[in-house]
Amino acid sequence: MYKILTQVNDKLIYEMIELDKLVFQGEDIGSFEKCKEWLSVNADIYTVLLYNNRVIGYINFIPIDDDIYKLFKMGRIADFQITKNDILRFEKGKTFNCLFTSIVIHPEFQTGFPLIKLWLGFIKHIKKFQIHINNVIMDCVTDIGKRCAKNYLKAKKIRKSKHGEIYEGRIIDLV
Ligand SMILES: CC(C)(COP(=O)(O)OP(=O)(O)OC[C@H]1O[C@@H](n2cnc3c(N)ncnc32)[C@H](O)[C@@H]1OP(=O)(O)O)[C@@H](O)C(=O)NCCC(=O)NCCS
Repeated sequence: MYKILTQVNDKLIYEMIELDKLVFQGEDIGSFEKCKEWLSVNADIYTVLLYNNRVIGYINFIPIDDDIYKLFKMGRIADFQITKNDILRFEKGKTFNCLFTSIVIHPEFQTGFPLIKLWLGFIKHIKKFQIHINNVIMDCVTDIGKRCAKNYLKAKKIRKSKHGEIYEGRIIDLV
């Protein structure tokens, strides 16, 4: 049975990191301390998909300040270098530029329904805040990540990054 969660505890963070290890390498694997640091500023940056109470996917989406957004767009910093000072809280009526750090579905659950379920859960979660999302940026480190950026965000390639390509777009479902 599928379930969406939008608040995470330590156990869920560890399970998300285990998922990262299945699909990413090196610096692209999340760190527990970093997740906790980000969550200390904004507790609403994760949407998690469970299947029978096990984490099988998640989205990490962070509103960041404009200076850091520009640096990210220039390829001068990477996801894991974002600190709590760069992160904003969702506040009703405000407009945000955001960073997609990760979108992951467990390999056994890829291709089909789980991604759509996770995506719709994420959209519902963000809509609750009654905010405006301006531009969204993402360092795509896999080919499927690039396809998702193009299809879901109508994103355009900005430049190459250390491990992939930086894409910028907008979330059509939220415009
Ligand atoms: C990226 C990831 C979450 C995608 O999940 P998935 O289950 O493999 O994706 P699916 O096969 O269901 O869908 C992929 C395709 O359908 C598109 N798609 C599916 N539902 C869609 C929708 N509702 N609207 C628009 N596009 C949609 C996707 O963009 C993609 O495009 P394609 O048709 O050109 O292939 C998953 O492959 C994964 O975890 N990969 C490893 C981690 C990773 O690479 N993350 C991205 C890092 S940048």
